[in-house]
Amino acid sequence: MSVPHIDDIAIDRLLSLSSIYGAVNEALKDWGNGNAANTIRVRASAKGQMASAMAAVAPPYSGGKVYATKDGVFTFLNVLFDDQGNLLCTLDGDVLTRLRTPVLCQIAIEKFAPENANKGAIIGAGRQGRLHLEMLIDSVKTLKSIKIYDPRKEAAQALVDIAQSRGVTAEIAATPSDAIKGAQVVVTLTPATEPLFEADAVNEEALICAVGSTKYDKCELPPKLMARAVSVVCDDVEGSKIECGDLIRAEDEGFFRWEDAIEFKDVCADKVRTPRANNSIVVFETQGLALQDVAAAGVAWEKFKKEISS
Ligand SMILES: NC(=O)c1ccc[n+]([C@@H]2O[C@H](COP(=O)([O-])OP(=O)(O)OC[C@H]3O[C@@H](n4cnc5c(N)ncnc54)[C@H](O)[C@@H]3O)[C@@H](O)[C@H]2O)c1
Repeated sequence: MSVPHIDDIAIDRLLSLSSIYGAVNEALKDWGNGNAANTIRVRASAKGQMASAMAAVAPPYSGGKVYATKDGVFTFLNVLFDDQGNLLCTLDGDVLTRLRTPVLCQIAIEKFAPENANKGAIIGAGRQGRLHLEMLIDSVKTLKSIKIYDPRKEAAQALVDIAQSRGVTAEIAATPSDAIKGAQVVVTLTPATEPLFEADAVNEEALICAVGSTKYDKCELPPKLMARAVSVVCDDVEGSKIECGDLIRAEDEGFFRWEDAIEFKDVCADKVRTPRANNSIVVFETQGLALQDVAAAGVAWEKFKKEISS
């Protein structure tokens, strides 16, 4: 019997931010309680080619993601198994990644954003931009205005247009520092290799969700910012030590200690309490987890089965 493959077009039709939220949230709680598992990402590279892999158990599913990266282009393949180890399906990963990443930030925003946050900022208006914007508008109910920065003005303008169509005042920022001025929720979505702004440009009460620093040599946040933060929350310390360029650099420069890092799964499982960014800065660093992929792929599989059986 051939194994079904769920492509990006189908995933786009079947899933939304809200439809995967519950599964991702539960998977994080399960992980924090020792009932789910996640590996760190491993990468192989030679002759200008790179392949990466990561796996997770998010009951009742297990699976993972393998992908190739070439010239900044990612080609993802997800695999999903049931709780007996039977192969259920394979899935494209582009749309899945676009969806599961903002959902993780949404969960962080719900836990750490200052109450009544009304100013937001997005730096980086590429593939991850649109759904992070939609997520911000949906989840920060008090949001009134947002600034967008991207060196590609047309990409920033596209997000400004979406925000305005959703009733949020939006404008293009001239620089990343201009974008974050006064912002209480900031999302960085860039492949930057140098900090996007100075540490003292960050508002005193701000949650920074840093999404782009997915390799040791990438860096979006100024190292000094970690010393200003009341909490630095990461996906997991083991993986972050290998691939979170922001934290690796901050530790190297003496502004951060790994023993102070808080793992998000422990917050999700109510094992650790962290204050909201009401009077201080909270940094949330994510490089992406197979757990998110498997949880979201499980929802896609359930919806796909329903669709073909009706
Ligand atoms: N944490 C996760 O789970 C996760 C998931 C997907 C992507 N990512 C990472 O997030 C980043 C963005 O992903 P994407 O798919 O949107 O990438 P993309 O290439 O589609 O978009 C990146 C955007 O950043 C802009 N940019 C580049 N350099 C910049 C700089 N120095 N300052 C400001 N803007 C800059 C580009 O113009 C582009 O619009 C990448 O680094 C990617 O690896 C992380």
